[in-house]
Amino acid sequence: MHVTRVRYWILAILLFLYIAGVLFLSAVTLHEPKNLTHGKQTDRNQPFSRLKNYEYGIPGLRPPLRGRSKIQWCSTELKYIHPAIPPVALVSFPGSGNTWLRYLLQQVSGFYTGSVYKDYGLLKNGFPAENIANGSVLVVKTHEWGYNARKIFSKAIILVRSPAAAIQAEFNRQSGGHIGFASPDRYKRTKGKYWQQFVNDKLEAWKQTNLDWLYNFTGPTHVIFYEQLVDNLEHTLKTIINFLDISTDENLFKCALERKEGIYRRKRRVLNFDPYTDEMKRKLDKIQKKVYEAIYNFATPS
Ligand SMILES: *[C@@H]1O[C@H](CO)[C@@H](O)[C@H](O)[C@H]1NC(C)=O
Ligand SMILES: *[C@@H]1O[C@H](CO)[C@@H](O)[C@H](O)[C@H]1NC(C)=O
Repeated sequence: MHVTRVRYWILAILLFLYIAGVLFLSAVTLHEPKNLTHGKQTDRNQPFSRLKNYEYGIPGLRPPLRGRSKIQWCSTELKYIHPAIPPVALVSFPGSGNTWLRYLLQQVSGFYTGSVYKDYGLLKNGFPAENIANGSVLVVKTHEWGYNARKIFSKAIILVRSPAAAIQAEFNRQSGGHIGFASPDRYKRTKGKYWQQFVNDKLEAWKQTNLDWLYNFTGPTHVIFYEQLVDNLEHTLKTIINFLDISTDENLFKCALERKEGIYRRKRRVLNFDPYTDEMKRKLDKIQKKVYEAIYNFATPS
């Protein structure tokens, strides 16, 4: 009886210390940059956003880019936009190259890009305006959808990547950080049920994100594909610069293209098996077709 009680107390104290430790670390993370507002803009009705709060809060404990070389910027100094412009959303489903595009835009424009999240790893590695969600930055990253997610923005760039690739990239990010990988056995966890559920949930989120912004956002909208960025970076970047209505000088543009790789692109690593079953592929194809058709119809109204 007595021993049980002692054990109970020890457990309680350990638990307390653990919670205090976590709170302390997150407080350090939250108070790092000056002039920032906290935790903007997550629609609490969406389970997807709630999940994200965890994803984006805790990785501060294991900065994904520790020990990596520092980014060399083409501009001598990145700047905020002053006076501020009407805020532009950079919308994407996670794993669609959002960070890479932010990096490229900072290179060609010399302006910071912001985010409705606060990813500590990004904040410390090239994106000090992470968590700024207004027109003092060039674009503001968001993975959210719904009225609350859209209402603060005047224009939107929607970055779309094929769902199979994006979902796998997101799976990698959740297990290995921005440039790491999921180990093969993570796909096989709980006899593959975990991965199966992940694919189902994320495919739905992929569809919602893209269609909601496409159909329901009323400001000027520019849709680009990740694959288009990879295949024809120069042209695609120019269309974005046009859409944003900014000027960039020849040298800056050339420099950005030379440094296009940055440090945020995962190197290709091929799994020795295909993580998608035939059934998953059929579903991915079906939804992808539906969304791409909506995009093409949107781009060329009849
Ligand atoms: C943008 O947001 C930051 C952080 O919340 C704030 O300090 C700054 O004044 C804002 N700028 C504008 C133009 O609203
Ligand atoms: C567009 O908005 C309506 C009403 O807010 C919502 O019911 C609908 O789901 C949205 N469309 C998409 C594709 O999310």
